[in-house]
Amino acid sequence: MNMKDTVHRSFSEQYGGTGDFYASSGRINLIGEHTDYNGSFVFPGAIDRKIVVEIRRNGGNRARVFSVNMGEACEFGFNEEDIPRTAWARYIFGVCREIIKLRGAVLGGFDAAFAGDIPLGAGMSSSAALESAFAFALNDIFKTGIDLYGLARIGQATEHNYCGVQCGIMDQFASLFGKAGSLIRLDCRSMEYRYFPFNPEGYRLVLLDSCVKHELASSAYNRRRASCENVVRAIRDSGHPGTEYLRDVSAGMLGEVKGKVSEEDYMRTEYVIEETRRVLEVSSALESGDYETVGRKMYETHEGMSRLYQVSCEELDFLNSIALECGVTGSRVMGGGFGGCTINLVRDDIYESFLDTSVGKYRDRFGFAPKIYPVVICDGAGRL
Ligand code: GLA
Repeated sequence: MNMKDTVHRSFSEQYGGTGDFYASSGRINLIGEHTDYNGSFVFPGAIDRKIVVEIRRNGGNRARVFSVNMGEACEFGFNEEDIPRTAWARYIFGVCREIIKLRGAVLGGFDAAFAGDIPLGAGMSSSAALESAFAFALNDIFKTGIDLYGLARIGQATEHNYCGVQCGIMDQFASLFGKAGSLIRLDCRSMEYRYFPFNPEGYRLVLLDSCVKHELASSAYNRRRASCENVVRAIRDSGHPGTEYLRDVSAGMLGEVKGKVSEEDYMRTEYVIEETRRVLEVSSALESGDYETVGRKMYETHEGMSRLYQVSCEELDFLNSIALECGVTGSRVMGGGFGGCTINLVRDDIYESFLDTSVGKYRDRFGFAPKIYPVVICDGAGRL
C-alpha cells in the first residue's frame, strides 16, 4: 500500500470520510553545515522521503491528530497551556501556536492523520518535514495567506519555542522549497537562493546511516550555537560593532579576539569561517562539473566537523575513513551531527563494492550494519 492509502485508512477509521492530502520532504545537505544560524550558506535538497498528511476542518476549536507510525492519537486545544505531553504532537501544536501568533485566531479545529518514511534521528530532518507538512496544510485549509518563507519560519520557531532546539532555517527551507533534480544554495542572511541542477553523471549520492543517535544532541547543538554567538559578541566589542553573524568574521578578525574567547569557541569559529569558503568553492566546482573538487571539500568538512566543531562521533568517523580507503570521491557527516548519516559522493564503478565494504567493516567493528539510503532529489512541500 502506498503512503497515501495507509494514511487514508487511519483517517477514515478515526474520523470517517475524507480530507485533503499534503506532503513535505526530508532533506540532504551537500555542504554548508552549522552555517545557517551563522548567516552563511547551505546547499540542501529535498529527498524522496516524506511526511504525508490527510487533514480536514472539523468545525470545532480543537485538533485531533493520529500518527500512523506510532499508532497513537492526540487531541489538543490551541492555547499555550494546551501543550501536549506526546513528543510528536508538540511539533504540530507548535506550528498551530506559531500560526496563531502571526495571524491571530484564524485557525479552527481540524482532524488529521499522518505517516512518514523519513528515519527518525538520522539527520534527514524528519521533524522539519512534519512541521512543514502541517504548516503548509493548515495555511491552505484555513487560508491564512502565509508565503513559503513564512511557513519555514513557523517551523523554525516551533523548534525554538516548543522543542528546545535553537536550529537555523535550512531544514524547513529545504523541505518547503525543494525542487526535483536540483540542490538549493541558500544565503541564510539575505535568504536569497538559487537552484543548481544536480545530476552528476558517473556519480551517485548515497547516505550511510550509522544508526546511532547520541543523547543530549539538542543541548550540544544549542551549545555550538551559543559558542558562535559568544565570538560574535567578542568581535563586536573589539572594534567591529557592525558584526551580526560569524559570516561577517574573517580569520584576521578572529585573531584579534584570541585569548578573549575560549579555545573551544575559537575552534568553532575557525570551522565556520572555513565552511563558508568551502560552500562557495563547491558552487564554482558544480558549475564547471568538477565533482572531484566537490568531493575533496566534503572530506574537508568532515575533518572540520570532527576536529574543530566536534559534532562527529566514533561511528561516523569510521564510516568516513572507510569511504576514504575505498576511494570514494567525497564523504562527510551530514546535518547536525552527534550520530545519523554520512553523505557520500561515489563513482558508479566503485558504488557496489564501497557499500559492501562499508557494511562488512562496520558490522565487524560495531556489531550491527549501517543502513543505506540512495538519494533521489525531489520536490518539497505540496498538495497531493
Ligand atoms: C540541524 C539544524 C539545521 C542546521 C544543521 C547543521 O539539521 O536543524 O538548522 O543547523 O543541523 O547544518
